[in-house]
Amino acid sequence: MPSADEIRDSQRVTWAGLSAGWEKWDSVIMEQLGPVGAAMIERLDIAEDQQHLDIASGTGEPGLSIARRSPKGRVVLTDLVAEMLEVAVRRAGEQGVANIETKVCSADDLPFADATFDSVSVRFGYMFFPDMGRATAEFERVLKPGGRLCSSVWVKPEENPWTAIAMQAIATEAVVAPPDPDGPNMFRCAAPGCVRDLYEGAGLRDVAEWDVDVELVTRSPAQYWEMISEHVSLAVAALQQVDEPARERIRARAVAKVSAFEKDGKVRVPGVARCIVGTKQDASSTRASDGARSPNAG
Ligand SMILES: C[S@@+](CC[C@H](N)C(=O)[O-])C[C@H]1O[C@@H](n2cnc3c(N)ncnc32)[C@H](O)[C@@H]1O
Repeated sequence: MPSADEIRDSQRVTWAGLSAGWEKWDSVIMEQLGPVGAAMIERLDIAEDQQHLDIASGTGEPGLSIARRSPKGRVVLTDLVAEMLEVAVRRAGEQGVANIETKVCSADDLPFADATFDSVSVRFGYMFFPDMGRATAEFERVLKPGGRLCSSVWVKPEENPWTAIAMQAIATEAVVAPPDPDGPNMFRCAAPGCVRDLYEGAGLRDVAEWDVDVELVTRSPAQYWEMISEHVSLAVAALQQVDEPARERIRARAVAKVSAFEKDGKVRVPGVARCIVGTKQDASSTRASDGARSPNAG
């Protein structure tokens, strides 16, 4: 079992290497993940002067969308990897979003005082943290009482053919080891209740989870393969094991399989994500529940 430091080190290398792919395919990725960000933002109840923390921001979402909705507020975009946040800063500049700042840090060790933020978001980050319970405790700590945490994770591969097609093609030529259920991988939090239990363990209340459909839309099967092989963490890692002829056979298989999803001149491959929301206890509800637990209450 790798240590937390080893996990962080390997995640740093992985995501620094993926940052160029995420920037190149920005518009396709953002269109695919947009419904998830929108669903999260809806539940975060963003005010025009929101103080918001976006964890594992990568290239900036949903933090940049929240900053646009909160012109008098401030959004802090954080990530383990400086190269990803550099893309986020370029995207913010292109979009004219100025009320943001960035901080390189790990989700499980946040450099912010207690009760600093009105809300916290984590879109597709949880699965990569060395200690998800410790990270959740950090999110709870930096939230103001009554503040909300909303995150999203992928449900199981069978419901995400947009990535399963590529992984099945890769598995015909490379050894794709079953992911360590306790180690970082994009489906680590797929089981229903996985993140909900973390929230409840950290003392959040009114915890709810729900699924959101996504669709990966590319111009052609060839473009589908190009973008997946350049930005999906599992695919990029597995492809490093194979030589060029094997890579070409994998590409041909994935392209043939994904052609079944061609519709109206585009390739449209579905997927499903899960969102989870919860609220930090405010002082009055903590007192009320303490009272309820007390044998002398009432
Ligand atoms: C799938 S990307 C998500 C990016 C963005 N939130 C989005 O939805 O477009 C996952 C991000 O998690 C970051 N990450 C991995 N381990 C982390 C950690 N321990 N703390 C903070 N971020 C981490 C990676 O660097 C990467 O940018």
